[in-house]
Amino acid sequence: MASFKTLGQADVGGKRVLVRADLNVPVKDGRVTDATRIERFATTVTDLLMRGAKVIVLSHFDRPKGKRVPEMSLRPIAPALAKAIGHDVVFADDCIGEAAETVVESLKPGQVALLENLRYHSGEEANDKDFVKALAALGDIYVNDAFSAAHRAHASTEGLAHVLPAYAGRQMQAELEALTAALEQPRKPVMAIVGGSKISSKLDVLNNLAAKVDVLVIGGGMANTFLNAQGINVGKSLCERDLADTARAILENAKRNNCDVFLPTDVVIADGLKEGIATAICPVDKVPSDKMILDVGPGSVQALKAMLNVCKTLLWNGPLGAFEIKPFDEATFSIAHHVAALTKAGTLVSVAGGGDTVAALNGAGVTDQLSYVSTAGGAFLEWMEGKELPGVKALGG
Ligand code: 3PG
Repeated sequence: MASFKTLGQADVGGKRVLVRADLNVPVKDGRVTDATRIERFATTVTDLLMRGAKVIVLSHFDRPKGKRVPEMSLRPIAPALAKAIGHDVVFADDCIGEAAETVVESLKPGQVALLENLRYHSGEEANDKDFVKALAALGDIYVNDAFSAAHRAHASTEGLAHVLPAYAGRQMQAELEALTAALEQPRKPVMAIVGGSKISSKLDVLNNLAAKVDVLVIGGGMANTFLNAQGINVGKSLCERDLADTARAILENAKRNNCDVFLPTDVVIADGLKEGIATAICPVDKVPSDKMILDVGPGSVQALKAMLNVCKTLLWNGPLGAFEIKPFDEATFSIAHHVAALTKAGTLVSVAGGGDTVAALNGAGVTDQLSYVSTAGGAFLEWMEGKELPGVKALGG
């Protein structure tokens, strides 16, 4: 992990603090439908307000690609931010220039402004020097609290850290500490569960984890690709048959690194992915050619739980089955409850992340019972691939 300065080390009283947040949250009909990112970010804002800072919040929203796309305005997010911090938020119609300057100049210590979508300017994604300069002119200190955007080397996530005194926000710090505890300095044995539909999107993740963890559990549709690569008939199941060699190479890599790979030994099968459809359980080598594997079977779930009982750290990305459709949520939810119980008992440090994983944990009702659940998507994956994230690296500079 890059070493970085944290908010606690910053003298912020009376200063203009530019805080990069990730307010790229789901919105429907102008209303925020999941405020988790905003609520977590609130701890950083509250901390700054209590210490008398003038807080200027920067964020992107969606991908307007350098144009003012009205539907991608951050304006509808301001009330949700105000609610989360319990404090008024002034909105500025632009993130640089006169509109931003006027709002920033009007701020008193202990007040908050939210500036319009950074990505309305192409200089943001281009990490353009002049754009960085224009943003930097609005603040005395820079705080990055957007781990979920740290895989982007943009003006507000990377460039600003080189021109202003830079600190990690509370949420960034919590995320980096949790991820370090899970993979860089974990208590062993370490298990990683990687699920989801395709291995093609997670090749680097699988290879990096195979070299780092003690047990690699492969679930979801991607397990079928590994089963097929071992000569097992997976019927009509989702399967990347053209990646059989790749799957075998990952298994070899794991073997070289003394990493045990766990694949399901029994599975839940059905004619198709439909709610309430008739299902059966069968050993993994007895899948009829006209059936689909849609979840991990109960025998495998029991074996997985027994392994979790002796592990000290778990890193989880991706569901075990097609959890969005009942009854194919059973393995994922059952493991989620077990992980929550072991975490509560203090025997397991559990870190999970990725959009589907968070949705599955929410479905199981245990999101707040794991040690840490990341709301990051791409950034979490790149970190699991072992990549250095430019936004994190810049903070250590
Ligand atoms: C996310 O939601 O994962 C982040 O906000 C990054 O968004 P991006 O993929 O548009 O950069």
